[in-house]
Amino acid sequence: MKIVVAPDVQHVAEAAFKVMKNTVSEKKDAVLGLATGSSPEGLYALMAKDHSENGTSYQDVVTYNLDEYVGLPQNHSQSYYTFMHEKLFQYIDVKEENIHIPCGCAQDEEKACHDYENMLAKVRIDLQVLGIGSDGHIAFNEPGTPFDSLVHLVHLKQQTIHDNARFFDHDESKVPTMAITTGLADIMRCRKIILIATGANKAQAVHDMVKGPVSTSCPASILQKHPDTVVFLDEAAASKL
Ligand code: F6R
Repeated sequence: MKIVVAPDVQHVAEAAFKVMKNTVSEKKDAVLGLATGSSPEGLYALMAKDHSENGTSYQDVVTYNLDEYVGLPQNHSQSYYTFMHEKLFQYIDVKEENIHIPCGCAQDEEKACHDYENMLAKVRIDLQVLGIGSDGHIAFNEPGTPFDSLVHLVHLKQQTIHDNARFFDHDESKVPTMAITTGLADIMRCRKIILIATGANKAQAVHDMVKGPVSTSCPASILQKHPDTVVFLDEAAASKL
């Protein structure tokens, strides 16, 4: 696990963007794994800017998102489908049919998990973008999730509901309690991983991921065993290392 500490959020985004640009420049049909939330927003803004200014193309790129809330309609303002289109997809030339996001509104949720896992099993993600929750989750693999987990349904922990309430008028009762998420084994299969964490509220989770034992109590700690993971931090997130 390589650690890069940058002075602030913008420099973190710029450092992560260099890896993204290399990946899609070297491999036009790269398979990207994408995260939502605040952490990758700066990276996505730089991808949009670079596409508009330099024409970097995503025409043959295929994307797979990590997770989606269960129960929110696709067009809900806080669905991850909406987030990805608002923050990134509308600004680049990725083809709609090449975008994959777990379905959070399926009648049969178990089948939706199975179908998404089957799709993932047919590809190998070249570059996976991750954030980390303040409780050490990656995707929505909450503490206690087995390291061999595949796509599955998850009950979000109280800490995650609390953290994500900022997207739902600061009202925890509006945050969905369940999500569909790719598993830790799916993440570990990706060729290269970049994890972005900024802010003091991530410092303990970052410490446990990097310095703690590899333990399901900090799901992100499994990344210590991944052969090509780069962690991009601002100084606040790195403050406990
Ligand atoms: C989102 C995801 C989550 C977030 C994590 C951090 O797709 O997979 O693991 O990366 O909850 O969220 P932010 O970046 O909003 O602090």
